[in-house]
Amino acid sequence: MPLVTMGPMLKRAQKERYGIAAFNMIDYNSVRSIVDGATALNAPIIVQVSTKTIRHWGFKPIASWVRQLAEDTAVPVALHLDHCSDLNIIKGCIDAGWTSVMFDGSSLPFAENVKKSKEAYDIATAAGVGLEAEIGAIGGVEDDKFVAEDKSILADFDECVAFCKEMPKLAVFAPAIGTAHGFYAGEPKIAYELLERITSVIDIPIALHGGTGLTEEQFHRCIGSGCAKVNISTMHKHRFVEGFLEVRKQKPKEAEPLPFIKGQYDAMLGDVRDMIRIFGSEGRAPHAAGQA
Ligand code: 13P
Repeated sequence: MPLVTMGPMLKRAQKERYGIAAFNMIDYNSVRSIVDGATALNAPIIVQVSTKTIRHWGFKPIASWVRQLAEDTAVPVALHLDHCSDLNIIKGCIDAGWTSVMFDGSSLPFAENVKKSKEAYDIATAAGVGLEAEIGAIGGVEDDKFVAEDKSILADFDECVAFCKEMPKLAVFAPAIGTAHGFYAGEPKIAYELLERITSVIDIPIALHGGTGLTEEQFHRCIGSGCAKVNISTMHKHRFVEGFLEVRKQKPKEAEPLPFIKGQYDAMLGDVRDMIRIFGSEGRAPHAAGQA
């Protein structure tokens, strides 16, 4: 089917308390593993792209890979731009066919973040594209941004309320709740009470950033409290590298590239399936398709 926007699929996930996996893609092989994993389990899926990945491949190749794979499957696929503070890249994605985008103004003072996010919101809304926006500071490395885990800042509850009031039709809201991008240095301290307080008054699906390294129990608790979009990047990148190297280890004399690509694909596919099962979105595609 054609690419879908993520708003309706996330609304349903939020209501029925399951999570939709949002994997950060790397190349065509990676997108294939993401879409094939979702197809095998009949699950809606979000393919998200970092600005660094766009700078590497360009808008058009990425859009055409994902669009083609989406058209060849019966499960809903959304193409999303991950953390981006550049409105020109956001516009470039929309023009190239992305169905949702994220504006990340979390490093700005609150008033400035609201102003810039609202600008992105107006652009996305006018184009019929969903917007994700963030407040607080999620720790770790994402793209060119680094926030030390001890410098991460939980979202302020009153600011969350004021922020979402300005943008009531946000497709997904990303408040910092103590998770971090990359591998966790220690035990993640998730602010469940803050999450529950936010979702008790804000009726917008929540994005859970920093999925790599969380336990099943942590995923379930966050999803049960309203996190409908669950982001996975670092784990996928590791499978990409490890899957490739594993073939070299097992067949040191292999000179044909395709077995390496297959090994890499299988490694990524395994994770995609595992995450979909853990998040509870297996078998949710047919209804989601009707609403997309
Ligand atoms: P991880 O790299 O920890 O999986 O986080 C991904 C993410 O939140 C992307 O925005």
